[in-house]
Amino acid sequence: MEEVKNTAAAKKVMLSGIQPSGDLHLGNYLGAIKNWGARADEFDCFYFMADMHTITVRQTPADLRRRTLEQLAQYIACGLDPEKNTLFIQSHVHQHAELGWVLNCYTQFGELSRMTQFKDKSAKHKDNINGGLFTYPTLMAADILLYQPDFVPVGEDQKQHVELTRNIVQRFNGIYGDVFKMPEPYIPKTGARVMGLTTPDSKMSKSIPEGCVFLLEKPEDILRKFKRAVTDSDTERCVRFDPAQKPGVANLMSIYAAVTGKTFEQIEAEFDGKGYGAFKPCVGEAVVETLRPIREEAERILKDKAYLESVYKNGAERAAYVAEKTLRKVYKKIGFVAR
Ligand code: TRP
Repeated sequence: MEEVKNTAAAKKVMLSGIQPSGDLHLGNYLGAIKNWGARADEFDCFYFMADMHTITVRQTPADLRRRTLEQLAQYIACGLDPEKNTLFIQSHVHQHAELGWVLNCYTQFGELSRMTQFKDKSAKHKDNINGGLFTYPTLMAADILLYQPDFVPVGEDQKQHVELTRNIVQRFNGIYGDVFKMPEPYIPKTGARVMGLTTPDSKMSKSIPEGCVFLLEKPEDILRKFKRAVTDSDTERCVRFDPAQKPGVANLMSIYAAVTGKTFEQIEAEFDGKGYGAFKPCVGEAVVETLRPIREEAERILKDKAYLESVYKNGAERAAYVAEKTLRKVYKKIGFVAR
């Protein structure tokens, strides 16, 4: 244990939150999650299920509970080792809500009003523009700052929230000295960019389920989706990598390359003279075989309630230890009487 602690202290810290609001798909996996397992060698990583963020939009309680656990199981199955990463559920670590309140008092109404996600979501959910939706970014700032991370991996859409967090750090540290470490957004060099199977001109998305392959989907459904994948109406009908002229084929080739490790030249040679009809099921089969162990492992973990519970309990304990240190420091600086 001592040894683990020492190496962890030397590593830079990375933290990210994931909203348990949808099922994970092949695009998430090949584009990002696949590479996360290896990060733990270089960084001290914290990942949490941002359940507190999801309730800014109305949720069905049973679904939220199920998805939170399913997501945790899927991340573990994709290679996030709970021994090497701190995996936890946000609402289990009460320091998030506490620091969130404090940071609300150091964030201006005007700053929050400028957040594009707030503008988008309040336009989309006109009947429920609640206070939580508005102060969502200060809770996110608290999520981040409790762990003093160096890097925060986020998608483009979350960059503005990390920028706001940086402004809060500057303001807070300006008043009280060096309390928070300045975090940096980390936009990973993306893995494969996977497009929709029915819409090769736009990213694979759960909102178009016919063109989206989910990690927990049955093999026969995956195969069917690949057989129906849109290819291109060019006359040569050969498997050749040409994203501009043949986006559908190029997407299938990228997927096939990502799951088999083959180069585009090798793939072109493999299907020389065979046409799209032979190619599509092969890609489907290769994806099925890649996802099979992930699905089986996720299903196994989900059935092993005791194991899953031990993962999120340990994770919350480790997280709370770090979070509490930061929170105490903050409370002291702002003048709260020590307990
Ligand atoms: N807001 C992020 C999203 O919707 C999720 C999130 C919550 C997060 N807290 C975070 C991401 C802290 C990074 C760091 O995707």
